[in-house]
Amino acid sequence: MRTIKLLLILAIFVFSFNSSMSQEVNIISINSRTSLSLNGSWKYVVDPYETGYYDYRREARDQRANPSKSEALFLGYKAQSPSERVEYDFDKSENIMVPGDWNSQIEKLFYYEGSVWYYKKFDYDLSTEANRQFLHIGAANYEADVYVNGTKLGKHIGGFTAFNYEISHLLKPTGNFVIVKVDNTRGLEKVPTINTDWWNYGGLTRDVKIVDVPATFVQDYYIQLAKNDPKTIDVSLELNGANKANQSIIIEIPKAGIKVRFITDENGKLIGQIPARNLQLWSPENPHLYEVKITHQKHEVLDRIGFRTLDTQGSDILVNGKSVFLRGISIHEENGIKGGRAHSLEDAKLLLGWAKELGCNFVRLAHYPHNENMIRVAEEMGLMVWSEVPVYWTIQWENEETYQNAEKQLIDMIFRDKNRASVIIWSMANETPVSTERTEFLSNMINTTRSIDSIRLISAALERHTQEGTKNTQIIADPLQELVDVISFNEYIGWYAGLPESCNDAVFDIQFNKPVFISEFGGGALYGYHGDKGTLWTEEFQEELYIQSTLMLEKIPQLRGMTPWILSDFRSPRRLLPEIQDGWNRKGVLSEKGDKKKAFYILQQYYDSKKLEYLNK
Ligand code: GCU
Repeated sequence: MRTIKLLLILAIFVFSFNSSMSQEVNIISINSRTSLSLNGSWKYVVDPYETGYYDYRREARDQRANPSKSEALFLGYKAQSPSERVEYDFDKSENIMVPGDWNSQIEKLFYYEGSVWYYKKFDYDLSTEANRQFLHIGAANYEADVYVNGTKLGKHIGGFTAFNYEISHLLKPTGNFVIVKVDNTRGLEKVPTINTDWWNYGGLTRDVKIVDVPATFVQDYYIQLAKNDPKTIDVSLELNGANKANQSIIIEIPKAGIKVRFITDENGKLIGQIPARNLQLWSPENPHLYEVKITHQKHEVLDRIGFRTLDTQGSDILVNGKSVFLRGISIHEENGIKGGRAHSLEDAKLLLGWAKELGCNFVRLAHYPHNENMIRVAEEMGLMVWSEVPVYWTIQWENEETYQNAEKQLIDMIFRDKNRASVIIWSMANETPVSTERTEFLSNMINTTRSIDSIRLISAALERHTQEGTKNTQIIADPLQELVDVISFNEYIGWYAGLPESCNDAVFDIQFNKPVFISEFGGGALYGYHGDKGTLWTEEFQEELYIQSTLMLEKIPQLRGMTPWILSDFRSPRRLLPEIQDGWNRKGVLSEKGDKKKAFYILQQYYDSKKLEYLNK
């Protein structure tokens, strides 16, 4: 089996290498680099039969030496004479805003699943000849084929992770154009798989820009406290470029009185430690961030970094050596007021502002890596973060390509946010049915995570069920509980299992001396619909459910946090009940417009009490 797997991986690598003209290049702290934004109005063409990509024999046009100018949309071609047949014209096509999903922008695309071609013309000032340029796309859901000036750069798979392709060799001073085919078609073999309880927003859903870096530039760095050592900063860094060996790198943290010089090795890398006396540590109560400056030759990269220690001890989660209770809420990346995928700084401030008002010190960014604004604003606000890859429900566990896809999304998620003090938990999965293949798949992901990041905690929404022969004894019989740092699970007693009074006789039998975290609980209510607490979908029913749920969960001695499902109502094609759901999942403690339901206040009071309880610990 192992040999077959290795041969398959090699085959995938060779195939992907041949099929994409350049490799993706991860660049850390992308928003601190010099760049030309391509955000704004783009042209788009809806192409449900992918005629711009496949010919009538279903062969990919961009694999041909001379693709047909008449139909290959990625060439961005225009007829040169009245007699020339060209069956598309981007200049005469309609406009769409980037970043942003197409579903919420264009009514005829509300339910659309398929391919859309995006087109943007731009000029570029190549004055600093020696510099290099990369095309950066913050996210494209779900699959993106990327071309600049008619040359294919690559195919990115995964709807929630950023990617960059070098375009230095392609740019001209004027008349450049970027074309991206985005395909949000769902699939059994994909990550997530074909069935999800959220809207399949397609498009260029995050920033697009051209990043301009020196010929040899700081591609990656890690600057965080060593494990359980507030007086030592671990540093690693990698240069990219021809002149990367034996280079002087200065790392400064002025407000901490730190200025240290390192030298890269022959591969342009360095690993080291910096002694740090009297650092002001980052915490939810005091989310202190330091200006960090990294200098190579005359080039600087700036960041704002928080320093904190993180560990578990028995059933306690320790931040800076102090036991914390994660007063959380789950959040989907959706702004219900303006509609569609959230992506902006304003969106992040809105959603996380609601979480702060609820009394949170923690957010579960479900069920996929959110845009970087969410992570950075959480860090500024003092919100700790659970970040998750969309290994959700019935993934094709035995499919090697599916595993490679999931693992790459995991690696890309960790790459982007490894310097963020706010992120304390990496989540491998959500509600995945236990099987030998599934547990091997997730165990491999856990091993990969630990090999990259030995500090942050690992979890996943594990499987819980009622013990046979008992009335309501809940057990976690999931092999992954041996491997995770925090035992998390979703429970819906009182909603999917019985009514709120079922909470009274529920018993949680959890044998592990590890922190227990409730990654989801809750139930639906339509904002403004009132009745007695026995009437489903009323605010009163949801209020009672929250009262009973928090009383029930308090009985778990290892309980160290929760992220009730969910902050605000969100769109889901699975929610069909007229007059109540109408395509919305109504489990928010807020409506999609931010109106507070009665359950909001129950949770807010509970968090006030937990905050006081833990202040005195
Ligand atoms: C599941 C799942 C969520 C879903 C929720 C629900 O636990 O993790 O993604 O939206 O239940 O049924 O509302």
